[in-house]
Amino acid sequence: MFKDLFRKKIAIVENNKDLHRCLSAFDLVMLGIGCIIGTGIFVLTGIVAANQAGPGVIFSFLIAGFACAFAALSYAELASSIGGCGSAYGYSYVAFGEFIAWMVGWILLLEYGIAIAAVANGWSGYFNNALIAVGLGLPDFLTRPPAQDGIINLPASLIILMIMGLLILGVKQSAKFNAAMVFLKVAAIAIFILIALFHVNPINWSPFLPYGWFDTLPSGKTVGVLAGASIVFFAYIGFDAVSTAAEEAINPQRDLPIGIIGSLIFCTLIYISVSALLTGMLPYTNLNVSSPVAFALQKIGLNSASAIVATGVIAGLTTVMLVLYYALTRIILAMSRDGLLPIKLSNINPRTRTPIKLIIICGLVMSLIAGFVSLGTLAEIVNIGTLSAFTVVCFGVIALRNHGKKNSLTFRNKWHPLVPLMGISACILLMTFLPLATWVRFFSWLLVGILIYFIYSYKNSKLN
Ligand code: ALA
Repeated sequence: MFKDLFRKKIAIVENNKDLHRCLSAFDLVMLGIGCIIGTGIFVLTGIVAANQAGPGVIFSFLIAGFACAFAALSYAELASSIGGCGSAYGYSYVAFGEFIAWMVGWILLLEYGIAIAAVANGWSGYFNNALIAVGLGLPDFLTRPPAQDGIINLPASLIILMIMGLLILGVKQSAKFNAAMVFLKVAAIAIFILIALFHVNPINWSPFLPYGWFDTLPSGKTVGVLAGASIVFFAYIGFDAVSTAAEEAINPQRDLPIGIIGSLIFCTLIYISVSALLTGMLPYTNLNVSSPVAFALQKIGLNSASAIVATGVIAGLTTVMLVLYYALTRIILAMSRDGLLPIKLSNINPRTRTPIKLIIICGLVMSLIAGFVSLGTLAEIVNIGTLSAFTVVCFGVIALRNHGKKNSLTFRNKWHPLVPLMGISACILLMTFLPLATWVRFFSWLLVGILIYFIYSYKNSKLN
């Protein structure tokens, strides 16, 4: 089965040369950092420290990073030997056949779609705060969805439409904009780290594990370092998005592993430093706010540094949405080329060399979700979806070890099958720490996916 599917799949990828191969290793690392650093570190660090892990949130970041490292090595191997813009969807196709691939693709749509809308909500909060600071704040009814007594979250809706315009223009233009914004975001983090280094009070690290490692409260809420790890895992989502650039990378076999692993290492170091410093600056009980990094600077009286960091956050969240949105369109493109979604979606505009129709449809749908739906805890579903996709990719490495294109540039991890097995165990373990309600929502999503597969995709598949 492997060989046959692999041949057909590679033929589809190789016959489609419409996307523009223009991304360098630098662009790919920037895409990774652009997508990874966002809500996770700028928002979740404080909330998880206050509610789940205390200063032990540093361990939560380490544990989640550990799981991602194994998954990243597995992604790097498959991206370099199988390729294709479908990422985990494409690898699963070759490894396990169409049905599993469809389910993985379906999960990725959820992961990226909900994550973009959730980040747009966070972006809107920061943006409106900036407007308030200059006396131009929007009224509540324009920054809240109907379920929260508003009419529309207008900034969240509009930023998605703006990113849509950028993605239509071309991938190189998008990558350039992304690199500029990543620079601002990293500069903001560097400023925070430099200031925080001089304002740490070690007393704040005690007690270090106020909630222990794991516990379930009578309310059903899970606490402890491990529960925290399953939430801050969100902060690492994004290195996988780099693999969707396989058909637009100049030298994918060499550069995709650099982009995936390079961006993950960089971001992990940042996360450990920021979480350690933040919990050292203020007691963890004070960090339950929507912008803990800017808040900590304000608390020590550095208002202008806080404003600079808030600007970096706005830039940073913009790039997260940009790269997630980009990845979403490339995965749908791969699924529609295979006939599992309407084939017309995969048309590439010859002038911009981007899938314009697809970008517009995704933009309109996500803009509506971000503007009118109250996302709340729905974001946790992103984690369970991503963790399950990572698990399948690790299984894929075991199944596909001896397949795929190979030359001196192909990346292969040296510790096989330890790496994928560790990745599988770590991801499944993190999934078990997520609340029951998240599992129920996830299974409902899978059920809808199964129905669509048998009603539409199975009949229209080009490969089956
Ligand atoms: N990792 C991305 C973030 O933290 C999704 O916003």
